[in-house]
Amino acid sequence: MIIDTHAHLNTEEYKDDLNEVLKRAQKNNVKKIIVIGMDEASNELAISLANEHDMLYATVGVHPGYVDHETTEHLESLVTKKKVVAIGECGIDLHWRQDNYDLQRSIFLEQIELAKRFKLPLVIHTRSSFEEAYQCLLPSKGKVTGVFHCFSSDLKDAKRAVELGFYIGIDGPITFKKAEELVEIVENIDLKHILVETDSPYLAPMPFRGKRNEPAYTKYVVEKIAEIKKISVADVMKQTTENAHVLFKLGGISS
Ligand code: NI
Repeated sequence: MIIDTHAHLNTEEYKDDLNEVLKRAQKNNVKKIIVIGMDEASNELAISLANEHDMLYATVGVHPGYVDHETTEHLESLVTKKKVVAIGECGIDLHWRQDNYDLQRSIFLEQIELAKRFKLPLVIHTRSSFEEAYQCLLPSKGKVTGVFHCFSSDLKDAKRAVELGFYIGIDGPITFKKAEELVEIVENIDLKHILVETDSPYLAPMPFRGKRNEPAYTKYVVEKIAEIKKISVADVMKQTTENAHVLFKLGGISS
Protein backbone atom coordinates (compact mmCIF):
# COMPACT_ATOMS: atom_id res chain seq x y z
CA MET A 1 0.00 0.00 0.00
CA ILE A 2 1.10 3.54 -0.82
CA ILE A 3 -0.16 6.83 0.65
CA ASP A 4 0.05 9.94 -1.50
CA THR A 5 0.57 12.48 1.27
CA HIS A 6 0.18 15.59 -0.89
CA ALA A 7 -2.35 16.00 -3.70
CA HIS A 8 -4.42 19.00 -4.74
CA LEU A 9 -7.44 17.01 -5.88
CA ASN A 10 -9.51 20.02 -4.84
CA THR A 11 -8.55 21.93 -7.99
CA GLU A 12 -10.24 22.48 -11.37
CA GLU A 13 -8.02 19.85 -12.98
CA TYR A 14 -10.01 17.00 -11.42
CA LYS A 15 -13.50 18.36 -11.53
CA ASP A 16 -14.55 16.15 -14.46
CA ASP A 17 -12.85 12.84 -13.68
CA LEU A 18 -12.06 12.58 -9.97
CA ASN A 19 -13.68 9.15 -9.69
CA GLU A 20 -11.50 7.74 -12.48
CA VAL A 21 -8.43 9.35 -10.90
CA LEU A 22 -9.26 7.64 -7.59
CA LYS A 23 -9.83 4.29 -9.31
CA ARG A 24 -6.45 4.49 -11.04
CA ALA A 25 -4.86 5.34 -7.69
CA GLN A 26 -6.41 2.22 -6.10
CA LYS A 27 -5.22 0.06 -8.99
CA ASN A 28 -1.68 1.30 -8.37
CA ASN A 29 -1.78 0.53 -4.63
CA VAL A 30 -2.40 4.13 -3.60
CA LYS A 31 -5.06 3.47 -0.97
CA LYS A 32 -5.06 6.76 0.92
CA ILE A 33 -4.56 10.32 -0.32
CA ILE A 34 -4.18 13.55 1.61
CA VAL A 35 -5.92 16.43 -0.16
CA ILE A 36 -4.16 19.71 0.51
CA GLY A 37 -5.93 23.03 1.04
CA MET A 38 -4.33 26.39 0.21
CA ASP A 39 -7.03 28.99 0.94
CA GLU A 40 -10.53 29.10 2.39
CA ALA A 41 -12.32 27.78 -0.70
CA SER A 42 -9.88 24.93 -1.35
CA ASN A 43 -9.80 24.06 2.37
CA GLU A 44 -13.56 23.63 2.41
CA LEU A 45 -13.50 21.62 -0.79
CA ALA A 46 -10.76 19.36 0.62
CA ILE A 47 -12.95 18.61 3.64
CA SER A 48 -16.04 17.90 1.59
CA LEU A 49 -14.10 15.56 -0.73
CA ALA A 50 -12.72 13.74 2.31
CA ASN A 51 -16.25 13.30 3.61
CA GLU A 52 -17.43 11.90 0.26
CA HIS A 53 -14.56 9.44 -0.24
CA ASP A 54 -13.21 7.05 2.42
CA MET A 55 -9.71 7.06 0.97
CA LEU A 56 -9.33 10.85 1.15
CA TYR A 57 -8.15 13.00 4.06
CA ALA A 58 -7.86 16.79 4.19
CA THR A 59 -5.51 19.51 5.35
CA VAL A 60 -6.44 23.15 5.87
CA GLY A 61 -4.09 26.10 5.64
CA VAL A 62 -3.08 29.34 3.98
CA HIS A 63 -0.41 28.86 1.31
CA PRO A 64 2.28 31.60 1.11
CA GLY A 65 1.07 32.41 -2.41
CA TYR A 66 -2.37 33.41 -1.05
CA VAL A 67 -1.46 35.64 1.88
CA ASP A 68 -2.40 38.88 0.12
CA HIS A 69 -6.09 37.94 -0.01
CA GLU A 70 -6.47 35.47 2.82
CA THR A 71 -6.17 35.42 6.59
CA THR A 72 -5.95 32.47 8.98
CA GLU A 73 -9.19 33.47 10.69
CA HIS A 74 -11.33 30.77 9.07
CA LEU A 75 -8.93 27.96 10.02
CA GLU A 76 -9.99 27.64 13.63
CA SER A 77 -13.48 26.47 12.72
CA LEU A 78 -12.12 23.96 10.18
CA VAL A 79 -9.24 22.27 12.03
CA THR A 80 -11.56 20.29 14.29
CA LYS A 81 -13.64 18.90 11.43
CA LYS A 82 -13.67 15.18 10.74
CA LYS A 83 -10.80 13.89 8.56
CA VAL A 84 -8.71 17.06 8.86
CA VAL A 85 -5.24 15.65 9.56
CA ALA A 86 -2.89 18.64 9.32
CA ILE A 87 -2.43 22.39 9.01
CA GLY A 88 -1.14 23.47 5.60
CA GLU A 89 -0.09 23.97 3.02
CA CYS A 90 1.71 26.84 4.73
CA GLY A 91 5.21 28.25 4.76
CA ILE A 92 7.36 30.77 2.97
CA ASP A 93 8.12 31.17 -0.74
CA LEU A 94 10.89 33.57 -1.69
CA HIS A 95 11.21 32.27 -5.23
CA TRP A 96 8.07 34.00 -6.51
CA ARG A 97 7.80 36.93 -4.11
CA GLN A 98 10.13 38.67 -1.69
CA ASP A 99 8.23 41.95 -1.28
CA ASN A 100 5.61 40.48 1.08
CA TYR A 101 8.01 38.41 3.15
CA ASP A 102 6.90 39.91 6.48
CA LEU A 103 3.29 39.02 5.75
CA GLN A 104 4.22 35.49 4.60
CA ARG A 105 6.21 35.02 7.79
CA SER A 106 3.52 36.23 10.16
CA ILE A 107 0.84 34.07 8.52
CA PHE A 108 3.17 31.07 8.76
CA LEU A 109 3.85 31.79 12.45
CA GLU A 110 0.10 31.95 13.12
CA GLN A 111 -0.30 28.49 11.59
CA ILE A 112 2.58 27.10 13.66
CA GLU A 113 0.72 28.33 16.76
CA LEU A 114 -2.52 26.72 15.55
CA ALA A 115 -0.70 23.43 14.95
CA LYS A 116 0.61 23.49 18.51
CA ARG A 117 -2.76 24.40 19.98
CA PHE A 118 -4.69 21.71 18.10
CA LYS A 119 -1.84 19.15 18.15
CA LEU A 120 -1.80 18.77 14.38
CA PRO A 121 1.23 18.34 12.12
CA LEU A 122 2.27 21.01 9.60
CA VAL A 123 2.52 20.58 5.84
CA ILE A 124 5.21 23.08 4.92
CA HIS A 125 5.98 24.71 1.59
CA THR A 126 9.38 26.32 1.14
CA ARG A 127 11.02 27.58 -1.99
CA SER A 128 14.36 29.39 -1.74
CA SER A 129 13.34 29.84 1.89
CA PHE A 130 14.40 26.80 3.92
CA GLU A 131 16.43 28.92 6.35
CA GLU A 132 13.60 31.41 6.94
CA ALA A 133 11.06 28.63 7.58
CA TYR A 134 13.51 26.74 9.76
CA GLN A 135 14.06 29.81 11.95
CA CYS A 136 10.28 30.18 12.40
CA LEU A 137 10.03 26.57 13.59
CA LEU A 138 13.14 26.41 15.77
CA PRO A 139 11.60 28.03 18.88
CA SER A 140 8.86 25.35 18.74
CA LYS A 141 11.25 22.42 18.46
CA GLY A 142 9.74 19.36 20.15
CA LYS A 143 6.29 21.00 20.31
CA VAL A 144 5.35 20.70 16.67
CA THR A 145 6.07 18.28 13.84
CA GLY A 146 5.21 17.91 10.18
CA VAL A 147 6.69 17.54 6.72
CA PHE A 148 8.81 19.75 4.51
CA HIS A 149 6.74 18.96 1.44
CA CYS A 150 8.49 18.70 -1.94
CA PHE A 151 11.85 19.13 -0.32
CA SER A 152 14.03 21.40 -2.44
CA SER A 153 17.09 22.29 -0.37
CA ASP A 154 20.32 20.34 0.11
CA LEU A 155 21.36 17.37 2.25
CA LYS A 156 22.64 19.58 5.05
CA ASP A 157 19.22 21.22 5.38
CA ALA A 158 17.46 17.86 5.07
CA LYS A 159 19.45 16.69 8.09
CA ARG A 160 18.48 19.85 10.00
CA ALA A 161 14.81 19.24 9.15
CA VAL A 162 15.03 15.67 10.46
CA GLU A 163 16.83 16.87 13.58
CA LEU A 164 13.94 19.30 14.11
CA GLY A 165 11.58 16.30 14.09
CA PHE A 166 10.21 16.78 10.58
CA TYR A 167 9.77 14.46 7.61
CA ILE A 168 11.16 15.01 4.12
CA GLY A 169 8.52 14.93 1.33
CA ILE A 170 9.78 13.40 -1.92
CA ASP A 171 7.85 13.71 -5.19
CA GLY A 172 8.17 13.58 -8.99
CA PRO A 173 11.38 15.61 -9.34
CA ILE A 174 13.33 12.65 -7.85
CA THR A 175 12.70 10.91 -11.21
CA PHE A 176 14.05 13.80 -13.31
CA LYS A 177 17.47 13.65 -14.96
CA LYS A 178 19.01 16.49 -12.98
CA ALA A 179 18.09 15.32 -9.49
CA GLU A 180 21.58 14.87 -8.02
CA GLU A 181 20.81 16.83 -4.86
CA LEU A 182 17.54 14.94 -4.18
CA VAL A 183 19.22 11.61 -4.91
CA GLU A 184 21.92 12.46 -2.39
CA ILE A 185 19.20 13.25 0.17
CA VAL A 186 17.35 9.97 -0.44
CA GLU A 187 20.64 8.05 -0.22
CA ASN A 188 21.58 9.59 3.09
CA ILE A 189 18.33 10.18 4.97
CA ASP A 190 16.85 7.16 6.74
CA LEU A 191 13.62 5.98 5.15
CA LYS A 192 11.98 6.45 8.56
CA HIS A 193 12.01 10.21 7.84
CA ILE A 194 10.70 10.16 4.26
CA LEU A 195 7.16 10.59 2.94
CA VAL A 196 6.09 10.02 -0.65
CA GLU A 197 3.79 12.48 -2.40
CA THR A 198 2.82 13.74 -5.85
CA ASP A 199 1.84 17.40 -5.43
CA SER A 200 -0.80 16.62 -8.09
CA PRO A 201 -1.62 18.24 -10.48
CA TYR A 202 1.93 19.62 -10.54
CA LEU A 203 5.33 17.95 -10.86
CA ALA A 204 4.38 14.77 -12.71
CA PRO A 205 7.22 12.24 -12.56
CA MET A 206 8.97 10.72 -15.57
CA PRO A 207 7.61 9.49 -17.97
CA PHE A 208 4.72 11.96 -17.56
CA ARG A 209 6.76 15.08 -16.91
CA GLY A 210 4.88 18.21 -18.02
CA LYS A 211 1.47 16.46 -18.00
CA ARG A 212 -1.21 16.54 -15.32
CA ASN A 213 0.00 14.60 -12.30
CA GLU A 214 -2.24 12.24 -10.31
CA PRO A 215 -1.92 10.09 -7.17
CA ALA A 216 -1.46 6.83 -9.14
CA TYR A 217 1.95 8.16 -10.15
CA THR A 218 3.21 8.01 -6.57
CA LYS A 219 4.38 4.55 -7.59
CA TYR A 220 7.12 6.08 -9.76
CA VAL A 221 8.42 7.98 -6.74
CA VAL A 222 8.36 4.80 -4.65
CA GLU A 223 10.19 2.84 -7.37
CA LYS A 224 12.86 5.50 -7.70
CA ILE A 225 13.47 5.59 -3.95
CA ALA A 226 13.80 1.77 -3.94
CA GLU A 227 16.32 1.98 -6.78
CA ILE A 228 18.38 4.70 -5.06
CA LYS A 229 18.38 2.95 -1.68
CA LYS A 230 18.88 -0.49 -3.26
CA ILE A 231 15.96 -1.98 -1.35
CA SER A 232 12.69 -3.54 -2.47
CA VAL A 233 9.67 -1.54 -3.60
CA ALA A 234 7.68 -3.41 -0.93
CA ASP A 235 10.02 -2.15 1.79
CA VAL A 236 9.67 1.45 0.59
CA MET A 237 5.88 1.12 0.53
CA LYS A 238 5.76 -0.41 4.00
CA GLN A 239 8.01 2.15 5.72
CA THR A 240 6.64 5.28 4.04
CA THR A 241 3.07 4.13 4.70
CA GLU A 242 3.92 3.63 8.34
CA ASN A 243 5.51 7.09 8.43
CA ALA A 244 2.35 8.66 7.00
CA HIS A 245 0.19 6.84 9.55
CA VAL A 246 2.40 7.98 12.40
CA LEU A 247 2.56 11.63 11.33
CA PHE A 248 -1.04 12.13 10.21
CA LYS A 249 -2.68 9.62 12.57
CA LEU A 250 -4.78 8.22 9.74
CA GLY A 251 -5.92 5.24 11.75
CA GLY A 252 -6.68 1.81 10.36
CA ILE A 253 -4.21 -0.97 9.64
CA SER A 254 -1.14 -0.14 7.59
CA SER A 255 0.71 -2.33 5.04
NI1 NI B 1 1.23 21.62 -2.78
